[in-house]
Amino acid sequence: MRKTTVRNNNTIVASPMNYIGGKAKLLPQIMPYFPAYIDNFYDVFAGGANVAVNIEAEQIFINDINKYVIDIIKYFKENELDKILEDIHLYIKKYELSKTNREGFLKLRIDYNADKKPIKLYTLMCYSFNYQFRFNNNHEYNNPFGTDRSHFSKTLENKLIRFVSKLQEKNIILSCQSFEEFLDKQNFTPNSFLYFDPPYLITTGSYNDGNRGFKNWTVPQEKKLLEYLDYLNSQKVRFALSNVLSHKEKENEFLVKFSKKYNLIDLDKHYNNSSYNTQKGISNEILLTNF
Ligand SMILES: C[S@@+](CC[C@H](N)C(=O)[O-])C[C@H]1O[C@@H](n2cnc3c(N)ncnc32)[C@H](O)[C@@H]1O
Repeated sequence: MRKTTVRNNNTIVASPMNYIGGKAKLLPQIMPYFPAYIDNFYDVFAGGANVAVNIEAEQIFINDINKYVIDIIKYFKENELDKILEDIHLYIKKYELSKTNREGFLKLRIDYNADKKPIKLYTLMCYSFNYQFRFNNNHEYNNPFGTDRSHFSKTLENKLIRFVSKLQEKNIILSCQSFEEFLDKQNFTPNSFLYFDPPYLITTGSYNDGNRGFKNWTVPQEKKLLEYLDYLNSQKVRFALSNVLSHKEKENEFLVKFSKKYNLIDLDKHYNNSSYNTQKGISNEILLTNF
C-alpha cells in the first residue's frame, strides 16, 4: 500500500465536497471575528465541514441533518488516508469513470443507491453535475452526470488529502440531527462557541427546496433558530450566524429586525465583486455575532 505524505501550511483547508453554501471562500473574512480561545466548538449546520475543519478547539462538534454528508465525513475521519484514496481509485477503475463515460456513472449511481456506501457516494459526486449532493424524496442520489467536466482530478485529490489529514488531527464528535434536537442535548461551557450556517430562508439551495428528501427550511424553522440564538445570548454563550439579509428583490425581515440587537458584519463590503453584487442587488452576505 502506498503511503501518502501530506504537506500542510497554515492556509484555509477547503472541503473536497462542493457543497452548496460552502464557506471556504468566506472563511478568511469570517474567522477574524471568532473568539481567540474556544474549548467546545459547535458547527451546527456543518454541511461539507469547511468551517469545523479550520477551527482550533479542544472539542469540535460537527452536526448536520443530512445523514449522507455526515456519513462521508465519518468515513474520512475513521479510515486511513491511503485506504480512502485506494477505495476511490478502485471505484474509478471498476466503473471506468471518466469525464465522458455516462454509462459507468449511471451504473455506480444504481449500485450506490442499493447499498449506500459513503465512499461510493463521494466518488459518484466527483463525476456528477457541478459535483453536487442531490437526493430525491426516497433518499436516492439523483444528480445527473457531469458531462465533459466533473472528474476526480489531481487538484481534487490534493484537496481531499489536505482535508482528511486536517480532520484526523482533530478531536471531533459527529452527529446527524435537526438543530433543535442537537442543541437540546448540549451543555455549554463559558468558552464554548457556536457557529450557525443554516439554509438561507430567501435563497434556494438544493438541500432546502423541499423536493430533495430533506426537511424544508421555512419561516417557523427560521423563527425557532432566532429564538434559540436569543436564548444562548441570555445564557452568555457566544455564537456567530452566517446569512443573507437580502437576495435579489427579497429581504429577510425577521433577520433584519433580529440583527439590530447584535453585531452585524457586512461581508459584501470585502468582496472583490461587491459593486457587481450591490448593483445587481444579488445578495447581502452578513455575519452576526453576540460578543
Ligand atoms: C449553508 S449549508 C452549510 C454549509 C457549511 N457551512 C459548509 O461550509 O460546507 C446548510 C446546511 O444545513 C443543513 N440543514 C438543513 N436543515 C437543517 C436542520 N433543521 N438542522 C440541522 N441542519 C440542517 C443542510 O443539510 C446543509 O448542509
